[in-house]
Amino acid sequence: MLVLLWGAFATGCFAQGAAQGLSRAKAFRRARALSELGRKMFFDPSLSSSGAVSCASCHDPAFAYGPPNSMPVQPGGKDMTQWGKRAVPSLRYLQAIPQFTEHYFDADSNGDDSIDNGPTGGLTWDGRVDRGRDQARLPLLSPYEMDNDSPAAVVARVRKASYASDLRRLPAGGAIAERKDAFNLILSAFEAWEQDSGEFYPYTSKYDAWLAGKASLSDREGRGLRLFSDSDKGNCARCHIATRGANGTPPQFTDYGLVALGVPRNNKIPANSNPGWHDLGMCGPERVDLRSRQEYCGRFMTPTLRNVAVRKAFFHNGVFHTLKEVVEFYAQRDTDPEKWYPRNDSGTVLKFDDLPPRYSGNIDNVLPFGRAAGAKPALTDEEIRDLVAFLETLTDGFLPMNRSGN
Ligand code: HEC
Ligand code: HEC
Repeated sequence: MLVLLWGAFATGCFAQGAAQGLSRAKAFRRARALSELGRKMFFDPSLSSSGAVSCASCHDPAFAYGPPNSMPVQPGGKDMTQWGKRAVPSLRYLQAIPQFTEHYFDADSNGDDSIDNGPTGGLTWDGRVDRGRDQARLPLLSPYEMDNDSPAAVVARVRKASYASDLRRLPAGGAIAERKDAFNLILSAFEAWEQDSGEFYPYTSKYDAWLAGKASLSDREGRGLRLFSDSDKGNCARCHIATRGANGTPPQFTDYGLVALGVPRNNKIPANSNPGWHDLGMCGPERVDLRSRQEYCGRFMTPTLRNVAVRKAFFHNGVFHTLKEVVEFYAQRDTDPEKWYPRNDSGTVLKFDDLPPRYSGNIDNVLPFGRAAGAKPALTDEEIRDLVAFLETLTDGFLPMNRSGN
């Protein structure tokens, strides 16, 4: 019941090509040419108003297409003085994300397709777009990212680039100068590039090698994996699924659910200097279609944990900078809230300080959460170290990279 947004693309290209009377070979060449164009644009800072920022500035291939530094948000805009509002996600392993739905039924994750798993899927931290081509509009046109005034401005910049002639070579492509749909073609090219399997879903981690019987986990890593999946301990696999799908697909380490964890407010984000501003995820303000749905406030996408160990800023607001801190937060959010949240003037701990109190009922309270304040955390310090060692096995590059791009 998964709708493969990205995987469907190549097939879509063939179908489109076929509809235009292209042969299969030509349709295939067109898909490859689109992807190649997407790759060139992805690394091209001349597509931004500052001339200084490309997609790769924020989504750096050396960091699994995530941010290259520990800053919670990245700069952009005309003079590179505007700041984003959210941490940059990795672009790896987005290929199987289902389209956003408020009611998700899936036999794959829990073996019972009569259970409503709630809001699931979509791209970005709040699931507000479904396809790579729709997503690419956002950074190209955002005043605090690449800052183009209009689609026409993007097209004009691509026309000036050295690779503009690539578009002419696309079968049924035509010269970009003559095309009315040039912007859509550009967006499709980003989408095509983001599906290059060798770059974006190589499955070359130690964990993949272990699943294939080609490597063994150390004692610590093995203990970490058990803690990750144990429903009385980390219970991480409840949301970050660690086993193969029913049809044998490798584990993606997410169920694509949108969940509220109540992570602490990050005062290092410039937008947060306004105490009245809250990033409420699914219910806005970035996402607009569900603004009236209070039950969704505070919910953010469950990200894949593949390559998480190469990150230096965690959660949607980049509030934590080490995996140890993240796992401690899971274990101790409810047992030791004073460790994570500030106090008000009278000394009361302001738990869930990034969510107005009227929404606190939306926050997930099942293990590893839900223990009383002062109780023993679900994980000891030693167990936290084991869990971190396991998370480090999810980094690609343990096995040789598959560069075939197929
Ligand atoms: C200034 C930094 C920046 C630049 C430049 C940038 N991005 Fe992003 N990207 C982000 C942030 C931040 C998010 C999360 C946005 C959100 O949740 O609203 C994101 C999200 C995404 C996502 C969704 C990932 C997911 O996990 O759902 C894709 C795909 C993506 N970007 C592709 C691109 C492409 C293609 C470009 C170039 C056209 C680009 N980005 C340029 C910062 C950037
Ligand atoms: C109830 C579902 C749920 C459970 C259980 C859960 N997570 Fe998460 N995880 C999420 C969501 C949702 C986010 C993003 C939250 C946000 O940014 O506000 C996240 C984010 C993360 C991140 C940061 C990833 C990034 O790219 O910034 C890490 C690391 C992580 N989880 C590890 C774990 C570990 C380890 C456990 C078990 C101790 C665990 N998670 C249990 C849902 C869950």
